[in-house]
Amino acid sequence: MIVSPSLLAADFCHLSQDIEMINESDASWIHCDVMDGVFVPNISFGFPVIQAISKLTAKPLDVHLMIVNPQNYIGQVRDCGASIMNVHQEACTHLDRTIQAIKQAGMKAAVTLNPATPVLLLEDIITELDMVLLMSVNPGFGGQKFIPNTINKVQKLKQLIKESQSNAIIEIDGGVNADTAPLLAKAGADALVAGSAVFKNPNPKEFISYLNSL
Ligand code: DX5
Ligand code: ZN
Repeated sequence: MIVSPSLLAADFCHLSQDIEMINESDASWIHCDVMDGVFVPNISFGFPVIQAISKLTAKPLDVHLMIVNPQNYIGQVRDCGASIMNVHQEACTHLDRTIQAIKQAGMKAAVTLNPATPVLLLEDIITELDMVLLMSVNPGFGGQKFIPNTINKVQKLKQLIKESQSNAIIEIDGGVNADTAPLLAKAGADALVAGSAVFKNPNPKEFISYLNSL
């Protein structure tokens, strides 16, 4: 299992210590949540912070843009060291154009779906994607409760990927913890984002290893 700890739940006064912990852990990626207060009702951090983070780690940065008009920031996201750029389907009028531009910029292209957005909306673009990120909470905040219907969505998405012979992998974000992670692994998730479950854990590295073993 690919593990992508979300820095939204990290200690922003001691971000370098939390990144050091991730560096020493079995985490594969680092998940960075950008919020604009428009697409989601919250504001987090932006490109200068991600650029600073990228200098402290060799792990690929998995950047999740919860913003309107993400297509306007592809160059900036690349320049701040991102390896994976996640854009929301709901935020992109011309999703195909945006995906091609992300790939041309040299990043992996991922599309994120809100809990109410059906998997089938990706039917005509799934072969172009490196990853689909399914939100298992409504985006904007850490520490929310996992929406159980996500398990059905993982199964539907897995089927769509198989039928279309796409290489896309499936990542899940929101409410991932010791109870929900095994269900997601069983349903076919390839990557798990975890914020509070990692950073509120007394032994975060051990918890990351546990997720990694699923
Ligand atoms: C929420 C963010 C998540 C968040 C997950 O909108 O996209 O990445 O950090 O937090 P937890 O794991 O606490 O649900
Ligand atoms: Zn996220």
